[in-house]
Amino acid sequence: MEERTSGCAGKGVFEAVVVSNRQIGDTFWKVVLEFSGEGAEAFGGFQPGQFVQLDASEAQLPPADKIPEELADAAQRDILLRRPFSFTDVTRHGNKVAAELLYCVVGPATLRMTTLKTRSKVSIVGPLGNGFSPPEGKKLVLLVFGGMGTAPIQHVGKALMTGEKKNDIQIVAFAGAKTRRGLPFEKLTDEISEQLGFSIREFARFGMESMIATDDGSAGYHGLVTDCFTEWLKDNKIDASSTIIYSCGPEPMLSAVAKIAKERGIACEVSMERRMACGMGLCQSCAIECRVEGSDETVYKMCCEDGPIFDAQEVVFGH
Ligand SMILES: Cc1cc2nc3c(=O)[nH]c(=O)nc-3n(C[C@H](O)[C@H](O)[C@H](O)COP(=O)(O)OP(=O)(O)OC[C@H]3O[C@@H](n4cnc5c(N)ncnc54)[C@H](O)[C@@H]3O)c2cc1C
Ligand code: FES
Repeated sequence: MEERTSGCAGKGVFEAVVVSNRQIGDTFWKVVLEFSGEGAEAFGGFQPGQFVQLDASEAQLPPADKIPEELADAAQRDILLRRPFSFTDVTRHGNKVAAELLYCVVGPATLRMTTLKTRSKVSIVGPLGNGFSPPEGKKLVLLVFGGMGTAPIQHVGKALMTGEKKNDIQIVAFAGAKTRRGLPFEKLTDEISEQLGFSIREFARFGMESMIATDDGSAGYHGLVTDCFTEWLKDNKIDASSTIIYSCGPEPMLSAVAKIAKERGIACEVSMERRMACGMGLCQSCAIECRVEGSDETVYKMCCEDGPIFDAQEVVFGH
């Protein structure tokens, strides 16, 4: 991983070409976008944790029989604003850059994204926001995430395990979802690998241990991912000072992870989510309440520009 990027240096509006777009689960899809020219220059430096704003307004709606009943009304809404997305992977191929975007179909924009055809073009604004800071001086990286929080976490894990310092760190990932169907992975590994702590192929193939927790017990640990994580911390003696946690997912989960980190004195960064209009600090629609160090006061920071990655102890969680 390169040095942490802050602000939006090198950002712009770029046209990306769709290389592939395929369904990987009930509601999950993966689209691979390719940037060339100035877009490749800008996205060659994309840091795990940063995001883009994608314009899905030109994409067609799927045929009526492919629209889930619960989205039938939402599907008819016009798409006035771009939508924020992270990438799960960014790789350079010669003078082009390919970026993989994992998305969950939840409304009009993501519904339209399912009809993006190979070789069609998409307008992307980015790279936006900051990235996770590199784990300087840390030997153990713990990834705790839920649902669509997978995207930037998968990216940071792969970047670390293929980077210069890959032999100096160990990574353990904890993925949570309500049910097995809510896990946005192509395939889980076989039972033996699962028992050994390598449940998720996307992580196992880069040498990362991974564990799954589902609320209903339909895969992996039966319960919340934060409970699975707490039990692991009890069973494994770790040196807090050489450990860092990166986390992304629903806010109650982030709040619980921040608390666990604080109690054990472990450094922790969280990727926050807000509904975003401009994505670049202009509209003030994505405020996050943050503590001011050494004072009881709080200030509002913009998730899109000051984040989306924040020190977990800085954020005032609502839960
Ligand atoms: C920094 C960032 C990175 C993201 N990365 C990804 C990603 O990699 N993959 C992915 O699938 N999604 C990601 N998202 C969420 C994604 O932006 C939304 O799912 C998308 O905008 C939905 O658009 P839509 O028109 O399909 O549905 P909408 O109708 O816009 O939303 C559907 C439902 O989701 C809720 N919702 C939408 N956006 C948010 C939000 N930001 N916070 C809380 N609730 C929200 C809405 O209130 C509504 O109930 C990210 C969001 C942020 C802020
Ligand atoms: S989305 Fe406009 S300020 Fe953050």
